[in-house]
Amino acid sequence: MLESLYAAHLRAQRQRTDAALSQCGYDCLAIFAGMPHMQFLDDQPYPFRPNPHFKLWVPLAAPIGCWLLYRPETKPELLFLQPVDFWHKPPTLPLEHWTSHFEIVVIREPQDAWAHLKKSITGRCAFIGEWDQRFEAIGFAGHNPPALLSRLHYWRAIKTEYEIECLRGATQRSVRGHLAAEAAFRAGESEYGIHLAYLRACEHTDEELPYPSIVALNANAAVLHYQHLERRPPSTLRSFLIDAGAQFAGYACDITRTYSHAHDEFAALIERLDRLQQQLCARVRPGVDYVDIHLEAHRLIAALLQEAGIISMAPEQAVESGLSSVFFPHGVGHLLGLQVHDVAGRALDEGGQERAAPVGHPFLRLTRTLEPGFVVTIEPGLYFIDPLLERALSSTHRKHINWTAVEHFKAYGGIRIEDDVLCTTGEPDNLTRTAFAAAKTSAAQR
Ligand code: GLY
Ligand code: MN
Ligand code: MN
Repeated sequence: MLESLYAAHLRAQRQRTDAALSQCGYDCLAIFAGMPHMQFLDDQPYPFRPNPHFKLWVPLAAPIGCWLLYRPETKPELLFLQPVDFWHKPPTLPLEHWTSHFEIVVIREPQDAWAHLKKSITGRCAFIGEWDQRFEAIGFAGHNPPALLSRLHYWRAIKTEYEIECLRGATQRSVRGHLAAEAAFRAGESEYGIHLAYLRACEHTDEELPYPSIVALNANAAVLHYQHLERRPPSTLRSFLIDAGAQFAGYACDITRTYSHAHDEFAALIERLDRLQQQLCARVRPGVDYVDIHLEAHRLIAALLQEAGIISMAPEQAVESGLSSVFFPHGVGHLLGLQVHDVAGRALDEGGQERAAPVGHPFLRLTRTLEPGFVVTIEPGLYFIDPLLERALSSTHRKHINWTAVEHFKAYGGIRIEDDVLCTTGEPDNLTRTAFAAAKTSAAQR
């Protein structure tokens, strides 16, 4: 099935690219996948991250030094770098279904690609990728032209059926990891131990993760992008927040779950936030302004905080005055795709105009109106973050916060629940919940 979907995906990319090239006055496009970067004064490279423009066309896991040369109405050329190398295992020539759509040219040295391009490009050729002065001699008419990039980025928000299948694949993989991570938490493992359980269940290495996993026990869950992996479990286990994704054919998923160790008040807060999160997911429909979903999240979180006795201010006023942002300081989500925070989240049009995030909400990455084919995350959170609470203590918010409750919940850190949701012409399709339900059903049948 992926095979026929890929063929249609490629047709869609050709149409989008043809239109963008002609609007910007180019005849062809060369996309460079990139080369690894060396660490300072060292002969070891940083992990290689391919150019997302290349991944859009070619689902190679590590296309080091590869190029795509695209000319409208011609079979695209894939310059495949297969060096003669006895230090590393050279990449094998791909044979998968997608290869029939390309003219594959094997090159042995990066310079061979430059020579090939120099003689093959005709007319005005645009270059997209990490620029290297040595490409100057090839004769590109422009490198990373903003007008071309903004057009290609704008349309990437609307996923093809193939891309949706890849996102489903990434989600299924990540869900296996999330279930293993929860089991490791229940078994009393450290953050490090949970992280390893996650990787093993996804069959990923650290470098293959679409972003560094956030694996946080107890108060660490209050750190939004908590990055350490403590090697020993804490003496008292209270809570566990995991924000971790996986990849499939270059596409990323982005999933967060939070658990309480006991059936306590924190577990009740998680349940309430979970219900609230599903209310927000239900709003992912065409024509909906994503900014409204974000502001609705603030109102609902403020109402939850008031009902739970954590704040004493009416929800509207709590949002207006910024009190809700003390507990929910980030955006409610973003576009998802080849990149975890996919491009053009604030694009107003394909010409590069942007719509800023609303005043008071600087971290909102998505301000577009939803359309069928958009895949977005919905990730409301509620945290007890020291620096933000300290600031609130010396502000007019002080008297509206129940500091005894805050002290109690600080030991649990916070809660985030994050799903990846596809906007369709009808009901939203929650890729994450579907994958969790399927994994649980199949585990029950085993
Ligand atoms: N994992 C990063 C984010 O949720 O946006
Ligand atoms: Mn996210
Ligand atoms: Mn996330």
